[in-house]
Amino acid sequence: MKNRLIVALDTDDGEEIDWVTDMLWNKVSWVKIGFQAYTTVGDDIFPWMRERKFKTFLDLKFHDIPNTVARDVGTMTKHGANMINMHTSGGFDMMQAARISAKEAAKEARITRPKLLGVTILTSIDEQGFQSNFGSERELTEQVVFLATQAKEAGLDGVVASPLEIEPVRKACGDKFLIVTPGIRPKWAEMGDQRRTTTPAEAINRGADYIVVGRPIIEDDDPSEAAERILDEMKGM
Ligand code: C5P
Repeated sequence: MKNRLIVALDTDDGEEIDWVTDMLWNKVSWVKIGFQAYTTVGDDIFPWMRERKFKTFLDLKFHDIPNTVARDVGTMTKHGANMINMHTSGGFDMMQAARISAKEAAKEARITRPKLLGVTILTSIDEQGFQSNFGSERELTEQVVFLATQAKEAGLDGVVASPLEIEPVRKACGDKFLIVTPGIRPKWAEMGDQRRTTTPAEAINRGADYIVVGRPIIEDDDPSEAAERILDEMKGM
């Protein structure tokens, strides 16, 4: 389970990143780097995390014209990010361009191509929020499945989706398509702004490949112990 828990380093405090990752390096394999951590540390975050034996999920949620996103993804591939995401709503051509660029950049740098993920609908948005924000004819789950199918056809490796959408996405996109789920809340943790949530055990049972957990771990007084509790829950203990 160690390989399937991704800890979101959502902080702009370099010392906190140091402290949390120092406590977690032998417990979990993945960290997620968002805007805060990336702008605080810069590109040095990649060798730093590699030194601590972490794989990095770069969560900058690219969303731009195909040429720009392709360049962004190519650059970050060369820096050694192991997973990179973009908004599926950026469109089919954008996702396809990103995939081609990642492949070329990885070949050039002689490294493994990062996994590319599409963000579907943010887990902080519920059905009501979806209807009022997006004015879509579809229901939220239908829209998530539609976006996941687009991502798959464009050549992405998987999607970021709520644990509540794992089953329909699996059905539409198959077993090899990666499903990464934030919106994870152990029973003992606060909900915060998340809306479409499940517990770690439920997300794993529903078939998530990876779960992303931020605040319940990094805001705990003992991140190492919080991570252990979550890993136990993932194992169904
Ligand atoms: O603190 P928490 O566990 O809610 O962190 C979840 C992380 O996953 C955050 O970094 C958030 O930006 C990210 N995320 C999300 N929902 C998505 C995509 C990413 O919560 N659909």
